[in-house]
Amino acid sequence: MRSTLLMGNWKMFGSLAFVENWLQNFSIKKIQDQTEVVIFPPFPYLASLIKLCHDKKITVGAQNCASKKEGAYTGEVSPYMLKDLGCHYVLLGHSERRQLYHEKNNELREKLSCALEAGLVPVFCIGETELEREQGQAFEVLKSQLSCILDKIHSATIVLAYEPVWAIGTGKVASPSQVQEIHAYLRGLLAQVSPALAERTCILYGGSVKPDNAQSLLSLPDVDGALIGGASLRPLDFLAIYDTIGAI
Ligand code: PGA
Repeated sequence: MRSTLLMGNWKMFGSLAFVENWLQNFSIKKIQDQTEVVIFPPFPYLASLIKLCHDKKITVGAQNCASKKEGAYTGEVSPYMLKDLGCHYVLLGHSERRQLYHEKNNELREKLSCALEAGLVPVFCIGETELEREQGQAFEVLKSQLSCILDKIHSATIVLAYEPVWAIGTGKVASPSQVQEIHAYLRGLLAQVSPALAERTCILYGGSVKPDNAQSLLSLPDVDGALIGGASLRPLDFLAIYDTIGAI
């Protein structure tokens, strides 16, 4: 039985005061066991968030990591260091990293390997652009983004996040039928590697998830949770989405 994951990607937003304020507002409700809440703050706030969350059933992850264990790589952060700090998850392949920092499949494959070796759970993001969807290439693009890691995850635990690039931060949200179609397709690709992998892998949807559309997306059979950007910065919106999951 897969658990439900509610993940918040704070991107490059926040401050120490924001972290404390966010937790005060989010902590007003008790977290239920069947839903895991995970926050991905910017690197400088990881340590304080981990410390503040230790008794709150909120897990913490990093937004990126290096593809190497250690070495002369100025400015990079090793997945081993993240694990050492108390991170559980790491986001890899977010479309902002692919588009703005030109991260390619090969590099992401190395990052994923290194993160798994370090004992982190990668949240591997894939998604098609608007043009690719219009040209009927969505399935092909997703397949190539996923294929580059398939041989690495046969017996691993990862989370897959389907984030159509055209829905991220735009307010445009994929329709429930579009999301279910893609998620079922992705689970089918995982099943070709192994039925157990398809069964255990949580597939999240991300892209303009808000309190008013969460119910229709998160109740779909192949959707195991959400990766949320903008709405995760507003603790009361994030709580409302959390409550929606509890009511499904
Ligand atoms: P959004 O971002 O919810 O603001 O669209 C999602 C993401 O970038 O993971």
